[in-house]
Amino acid sequence: MTDDLIFVVDDEPEVGGLLAYYLEKAGYRVEQFSSGPNCLKALDQNPRIVCLDMHMPEMDGLEVLKKIKDRNSGTGVIMVTSNNTVDTAVQALKLGAADYIIKPADQEKFIGTIKEVLDQTRVVGQIRSLEKDMKQAFAYKNIIGESPAIKNVFTQIERVKDSNVNVYIHGESGTGKELVARAIHFSGPEQNRPFIDINCSALAESLLETEMFGHEKGAFTGAIGTHRGKLELADGGTLFLDEIADMSLQLQVKLLRFLEEKSFERVGGTKKIKVDVRVVSATNKDLQKEVEKGNFREDLYYRLVVFTIHVPPLRERRDDIPLLCGYLLNKFKDELNKEISHISPDAMDIMNNYRWPGNVRQLQNVILQSMLMSQSGIIEVAHLPQEIQKSRQEPVTPLKESVSFEDSPSDDNSKSDFHKISLDEGEKQTLLSALKMTNWNISEASNLLSISRTTFYRKLKKHGLSQSRD
Ligand SMILES: Nc1ncnc2c1ncn2[C@@H]1O[C@H](COP(=O)(O)OP(=O)(O)OP(=O)(O)O)[C@@H](O)[C@H]1O
Ligand SMILES: [Mg+2]
Repeated sequence: MTDDLIFVVDDEPEVGGLLAYYLEKAGYRVEQFSSGPNCLKALDQNPRIVCLDMHMPEMDGLEVLKKIKDRNSGTGVIMVTSNNTVDTAVQALKLGAADYIIKPADQEKFIGTIKEVLDQTRVVGQIRSLEKDMKQAFAYKNIIGESPAIKNVFTQIERVKDSNVNVYIHGESGTGKELVARAIHFSGPEQNRPFIDINCSALAESLLETEMFGHEKGAFTGAIGTHRGKLELADGGTLFLDEIADMSLQLQVKLLRFLEEKSFERVGGTKKIKVDVRVVSATNKDLQKEVEKGNFREDLYYRLVVFTIHVPPLRERRDDIPLLCGYLLNKFKDELNKEISHISPDAMDIMNNYRWPGNVRQLQNVILQSMLMSQSGIIEVAHLPQEIQKSRQEPVTPLKESVSFEDSPSDDNSKSDFHKISLDEGEKQTLLSALKMTNWNISEASNLLSISRTTFYRKLKKHGLSQSRD
C-alpha cells in the first residue's frame, strides 16, 4: 500500500470499478466517483491523480479537468477516453492533462501510465515548492542572475540601500553598474525621491558644470534664465555620477567642496543652495590607479568611495548566461515581433564558453542580432556573430584586461571560467533557463522549447533535474 490517493471518475460504474480494482491491486488508495461534481467536492483530499472519464452526462470531462487544474494544479489528471475521441484527448493535454488512456484499459499499460504520471507530479511538486525561492533568486530589481557572484552583489545592495552613505560601483563596461545604482535607489527609503544621473564623460567640462550645478541668469552669453542643476533636482534622492573617472580636475574640486559643505552656488551665483543627496558613482576604470596617476583627487576619492560594490564580469558568473539568454529572448520578442523558441544546445555551449569582453551589453546585442538572423524560430550556431562562432576554436583562457581590479574580490566562481562546459551541459542549461523563464511551469517550459512534455520530463530525468534543481 502506498500513500498515493487516486480518484476514479466515471458515470459507468463497471468501467470505473475495473480501473479502481486494477489500482487497488497495485497497492494504491482509491476513491471512486460517478460524476464530475462529486469528485470536485472531494478535491480537498488532495488526490495525486484523477482518472477522469471524458464523456459524462452531468459535467463533461474537459470541464472537470479545467476545474481541477484551477484548484489543484499539482494533481495529475489522466483522461479516460474511447477510441473515437482521441482528438478531444489531445485537447485535454493542452488543457493540462498529464496523459490519457483508451478504453478498454489494458491493466499493465494503465498502471504504467499511473506510475509515470506519479513521477511527473512529484517533480512538479518539488519544483513548485522551490518556485518562491527561485523567483527571488533569479531576478533582483531587474537584475537577472542567480550565480554566487551576482548574489554577492545583491547582498551588498541590501546592506547599503537603507543608509545614506556614498556608494562607488566599479566593474567592466556593460556589467550592469547602472542597474545596480538604480537598484540601490529604488529599493531604499528614498525610492520616491528623484534618481538623477549624469554622465561625466559625455559632456564638455563647462557644460557638465552647468548641468550639475545650474546657472544664474546672465552667468554667460546665452544664459537667458536661471537654470537649476541636477544637484538641485536630486535633492532628497540620489545623484548618480556615471563615468566619474572622466571628470576634470577642476570640476572635481567643485564636487569635493559640495560634498564637504553640502551646499553649492549655481554658476554665476553667490547664493548658497543646500541640498541633501546620496552620491552613487561608477566607472569602468580603476579609480585608485587614476589617483596614483594624478588624474583623480585622492580627497575626493575617499569622499565618494565609502562603500564599494564590485560588479563581476559575465565570464566570472557563467551560470547566469543561459538565464540572461532566456530573459533577453523574451524581452526582444515583442520588440522584434519575432518568436524564438530556443537556442540550440550547440549555440548555447559556445555562448556559455565565450569570454564576453563587453559583458551583458554584448550578450544583449548578440541575442538581438541572432534573433534577426534566425528564420527558423531557433538560434543555431550559424546565427551567432562571426567572432562568437570563431571563439569555439579558441581555448578558454582568461582575458588580459586593459583594466585590472587588483582589489576585486576573487571568488571560487572565477575558476569555472576554465572548465569547458560540455554539450550536455548546454542542454541542461537550456532546460533550466526554460524552467526559470516560465516560473517552473513544465507545460510552458516545454512549449517554449517546442518539445513535448514527455520529452521534457525525459530530459529532466537524464540531467538529474527531476530530483534536484542543480
Ligand atoms: N544582470 C542583468 N540583467 C538584465 N540586464 C542587464 C544585466 N546587466 C546588464 N544588463 C543590461 O545590459 C546593459 C548594460 O548595463 P549597464 O548600462 O547597467 O552597464 P554598465 O556597467 O553601466 O556599462 P558601462 O560601463 O558601459 O556604462 C543594459 O541594457 C542593462 O539593462
Ligand atoms: Mg553605465
